Amino acid sequence: MTEIDRAAGILRAGRLVAFPTETVYGLGADATSPNAVARIYEAKGRPRFNPLIAHVLDLDAALRQAHLHAKAITLAEALWPGPLTIVAPRRADSTVAELACAGLTSIALRAPAHPITRELLGVFGKPIAAPSANRSGKVSSTTAAHVREELGERVDLILDGGASALGLESTIVAIAADGGAVLLRPGAAPRETIQKLIGPVTDPHLGSVEAPGMLASHYAPRARLRLNAEAPREGEAYLAFGAEAPVGGLSLSPTGDLVEAAANLYAHLRALDAAGAETIAVAPIPSIGLGEAINDRLARAAAPR
Ligand code: TXA
Ligand code: MG
Repeated sequence: MTEIDRAAGILRAGRLVAFPTETVYGLGADATSPNAVARIYEAKGRPRFNPLIAHVLDLDAALRQAHLHAKAITLAEALWPGPLTIVAPRRADSTVAELACAGLTSIALRAPAHPITRELLGVFGKPIAAPSANRSGKVSSTTAAHVREELGERVDLILDGGASALGLESTIVAIAADGGAVLLRPGAAPRETIQKLIGPVTDPHLGSVEAPGMLASHYAPRARLRLNAEAPREGEAYLAFGAEAPVGGLSLSPTGDLVEAAANLYAHLRALDAAGAETIAVAPIPSIGLGEAINDRLARAAAPR
């Protein structure tokens, strides 16, 4: 039996499998089983109101779950498999458990690109509900070892697909029945890329229930964060950008490459945390391209807990 067959068997039994994606690792369960989905919330210690992404193999599978406006189809055709999640009106005959959608009339769908996970989706044959594979409110996992640290025995199997190539969660775009497009979460697919394909996307209203995972404190390491720090103060660990790090610090990207910075973000926060830093001072990051998502995560990680 291959490891993928084993993983599919565990999912069929209603249990949890962590899997690699190009963004971050996911903590997966059979999306059609409310009991299996409940295990995810239990393992993460996650607030119930936070709905999950249903991972699918392709656009055809997504069309069986949601009503996709032409704009959503354009995005899926251009960017799937890849780091884009589409939130759309849920079909009445969707097979995804209501618990996975937290009772909303919409559903979040994504076709991930990692070959191991595509194979798993193919063999399993049903959507896999999965949040990022970390304890609620903590930094997302970008390696199998991080998943082990975060969730340990709470997950039945971890598929090791190496370090996540992008290292930042997917971009979430809601496309309503009338084609209204809202950027719910900046992520690994830059806003500019989305807007080139479908025109302007608006920002969610602050405090809106429709806005996802928007708890102020989120993606948080143990250490305190000080943002937009041109240099570290006495005793701070420095997370540099566009320069080499001083002793005891790390650089997201010495050359100022935002793609490299996104890929390193969570692993570096974890490493500085593990080294015992009280405060991590973070260099300014420009808010263009992937910088928007990086700054969004840093602001949440820095928020009062
Ligand atoms: O890259 C990713 O998106 C990773 C990998 C594993 O696919 N997944 C991920 O899942 O980041 P999670 O659960 O950490 O974040 C998903 C976000 C949550 O903030 C949730 O609120 C939002 O998606 N979401 C899910 N369904 C939604 C819906 N119907 N309407 C609005 N937001 C939704
Ligand atoms: Mg998450």
